[in-house]
Amino acid sequence: MVQTLTVLGLESSCDDTAAAVVRQTEGEPAQVLSSVVHGQTELHSAFGGVVPEIAARAHAEKLDVCVQQALEQAGLTLQDMDAVAVTAGPGLIGGVMSGVMCAKGISAATGLPLIGVNHLAGHALTPRLTDGIAFPYLMLLVSGGHCQYLIAHGPERFTRLGGTIDDAPGEAFDKTARLLGLPQPGGPSVEAEARNGDPKRFRFPRPLLDRPGCDLSFSGLKTALMRMRDQIVADKGGLTRQDRADLCAGFQQAVVDTLAEKTRRAIALYLETNPAEPVIAVAGGVAANTAIRSALESVSADAGARFTAPPLHLCTDNAAMIAYAGLERFRLGARDGLDLTARPRWPLDQTSPAMLGGGRKGAKA
Ligand code: KG4
Ligand code: ZN
Repeated sequence: MVQTLTVLGLESSCDDTAAAVVRQTEGEPAQVLSSVVHGQTELHSAFGGVVPEIAARAHAEKLDVCVQQALEQAGLTLQDMDAVAVTAGPGLIGGVMSGVMCAKGISAATGLPLIGVNHLAGHALTPRLTDGIAFPYLMLLVSGGHCQYLIAHGPERFTRLGGTIDDAPGEAFDKTARLLGLPQPGGPSVEAEARNGDPKRFRFPRPLLDRPGCDLSFSGLKTALMRMRDQIVADKGGLTRQDRADLCAGFQQAVVDTLAEKTRRAIALYLETNPAEPVIAVAGGVAANTAIRSALESVSADAGARFTAPPLHLCTDNAAMIAYAGLERFRLGARDGLDLTARPRWPLDQTSPAMLGGGRKGAKA
């Protein structure tokens, strides 16, 4: 019998509190019936980064409001849901706990099945939600907290081909902006400055390109940038607008070149085992960067692979991806009990060795 499932999703693993309702009839495209996101940028702006305790408190205050708004916008009630899905990790533990407790409360009060979702699986399954991409496909997650290449084989089966050993690229953009006195989030500000800059004036390193494989490293770029900035200040007493633009352009070009080369290698590895109709998908806030996106597009085209990127509001943190990942798990018969725990670290591919990066959201791979 063809089954239609409607799932409420909750997300609170970093600095966005979100709730969404997703519906899918078997064999048909999924529908995002609502997707509510309350960002916390202004709560953390004075601190230069996300403050975990402030984030957790704000999530606890906002989650029920988000759930109510998501249900209202979908024109549905909890009685119309088949399950409640929640991010159970990885992420900032206080925030993840707030979401898990809220979902448990809903489950206990209504009898709805509870589904714990890995936040990274949410991102990695988004191309199926938005474009109905079939398994397997190659996925690049690039955001402020994540950077990894994954082969998605199924809703709960991923192989990690490589990832960052330190900072995520978005984190590097944010730190670069901070070092140059540009506004946060750093990605869009650095990209805007880079448009007027000369990428060849400063020689930034291309980290890990001399080593085989597709692991990445971005923390050295920020150190290089800091040295260059300090040198200009020592020589000339300060930075001109052009210095800033040239530094941004050089930094961004280094990220573009590194991601392009590592993506080329990831596609080659992927093709070794999955040669038919290859698809590469990208998700995460950094995918908004025009230079990075077009480099990835051309690398994919060169390899004969189809390139796809979900619309930005579903690329960045949201609860529709959590509801959808929960829906896929639920269809496979997955159910969690009220003993579901929040996991600050939760690698998607449990068979690969842990990566080094600690990061804003816990383990980066
Ligand atoms: O996916 P996201 O909203 O949240 C995380 O999971 O981190 O990504 C946010 C990150 C920030 O670090 C931000 O600076 C970066 O994505 N970002 C960009 C651009 N727009 C956002 N990085 C480079 N270029 C952009 N245009
Ligand atoms: Zn995320």
